[in-house]
Amino acid sequence: MRSLPVFADLRAFLAWAEGAGDLARLAQPVSIRHEMTAVELACLQKSGPILRFDHATGADGARAAMPVVANLFGTRDRVAAGLGLALDEVPALGEFLAALRSPPPVDGMRDALSRWPMLKAALSTRPKPVRRAVCQETTLPDLGAIPVQTPWPGDAGPLITWPVVVTRPHGGDVDDVARYNLGVYRAQVIGPDRLILRWLAHRGGAAHHRTWDRAGAPMPVAIALGCDPAMLLSAALPLPETVSEMTFSGVLRGARTEIVKAQTVPLMVPANAEIIIEGWVHPGETAPEGPFGDHTGYYNAAEPFPVMRVSRITCRRDPLYLTTVTGRPPDEPSVIAEVFNDLALPVIRQQIPEVQDLYLPPAACSYRMAVVKIAKRYPGQARRVMMALWGMLPQFSYTKIIVVVDSDIDARNWDDVLWALATRMDPGRDLMVLEGTPMDYLDFASPIEGLAGKLGIDATTKIGTETTRDWGTVMHLDPAHEARAAELLKGILK
Ligand SMILES: Cc1cc2nc3c(=O)[nH]c(=O)nc-3n(C[C@H](O)[C@H](O)[C@H](O)COP(=O)(O)O)c2cc1C
Repeated sequence: MRSLPVFADLRAFLAWAEGAGDLARLAQPVSIRHEMTAVELACLQKSGPILRFDHATGADGARAAMPVVANLFGTRDRVAAGLGLALDEVPALGEFLAALRSPPPVDGMRDALSRWPMLKAALSTRPKPVRRAVCQETTLPDLGAIPVQTPWPGDAGPLITWPVVVTRPHGGDVDDVARYNLGVYRAQVIGPDRLILRWLAHRGGAAHHRTWDRAGAPMPVAIALGCDPAMLLSAALPLPETVSEMTFSGVLRGARTEIVKAQTVPLMVPANAEIIIEGWVHPGETAPEGPFGDHTGYYNAAEPFPVMRVSRITCRRDPLYLTTVTGRPPDEPSVIAEVFNDLALPVIRQQIPEVQDLYLPPAACSYRMAVVKIAKRYPGQARRVMMALWGMLPQFSYTKIIVVVDSDIDARNWDDVLWALATRMDPGRDLMVLEGTPMDYLDFASPIEGLAGKLGIDATTKIGTETTRDWGTVMHLDPAHEARAAELLKGILK
């Protein structure tokens, strides 16, 4: 399956990208306070390279102690490369993910292994504990030594944007890494040894936190900064609960994940990271997090989230700091989401087989709107598909608008979708409006926090009892004439 070299750590990926002319080093001073964001976004908008800021400066103008790396996954090709694949190989990985979720085939494991060679790889890529690790070569005195960006002018303070937050449930064993959760949850720096961890309530990290809170015990947490691309993307992927990110990243990487004991907390951490922040979350201790510029394009309101007290920061001798920026799309997370869209498609089709394509336009914050292409066979089917998406698949809980189109429409082409809306949809008949459904607190347009409406738009051809009128026939040219036109115009059209 893997067509690229193994990227054992972030540096290996950077070296590969640099070799391909896909990494630019900036020697000029760039401030981590607001200014760096403008450079990152301008680069991302032009599908530019990975950026390495060799002279990042702090709020006081002083040179940062380490280089800052940004725009790592600023193109879909680089996201695919981070998965170990070329972009056109992503759907096959999606099929594999769908297989991971499905029950074992009737013929048992042998059949599963023969059908899914990667499943075999998955089983043989359990994490490998090591005694010495580069992420523990030395230590940093406090969080002030890390050049943490303050991305937007209205932000509350410095924000760690690419942390891989490592947690395990209360009562679990330190060595039982299969039960660990790794998630990307932004972390606000509120002091030299204090962070706020913003894991939203439905995330794996928050679920683990509840187990420690209930037991009244402090929770060990580690934050890995500058992980290898497979680890970063595994932590960002909504993997099934039963699949460990540590193991899965081994599948993507094509090599086992090396892990090492943290020094001051009972946790195993990724050995190849640039920096590891260790610490504890004490029961009931929270602080108001934010406001910060979010992926919606707005600042979100301050909300209480758990505080992490830092007990040690270990790092490589010459660490790099990896950062990103969230903002109105396109931003780096929206580019990642576009690739994840294609990864998720086979899982969706497993549940709703008539779905031929599903597109989450990045401009609509990657999840607030979906365009679904179906093979329509019976009246009312478009509405059934809308309800199935909202009802069966948790990732569509916050999708405010679903547009359903026929199989002759390209769901990813707005000209096609608008034509379908303009010609196959009647606003009096084809809208399905729901009220009082779940919504994330970031959506200030909903009348009540947490509860919002949903709109389904049926832009499919109406069939059977859906209409009493003669439906229009789509016009098509004779293919022979089209071929002749192409020939005649060969030298004329560029
Ligand atoms: C750059 C980036 C920043 C993110 N920030 C947050 C965040 O602040 N809070 C959050 O709950 N999820 C955030 N996410 C999304 C989660 O990391 C993602 O949904 C992941 O699958 C969660 O893992 P889990 O299902 O194990 O909790 C972010 C993702 C990326 C790529």
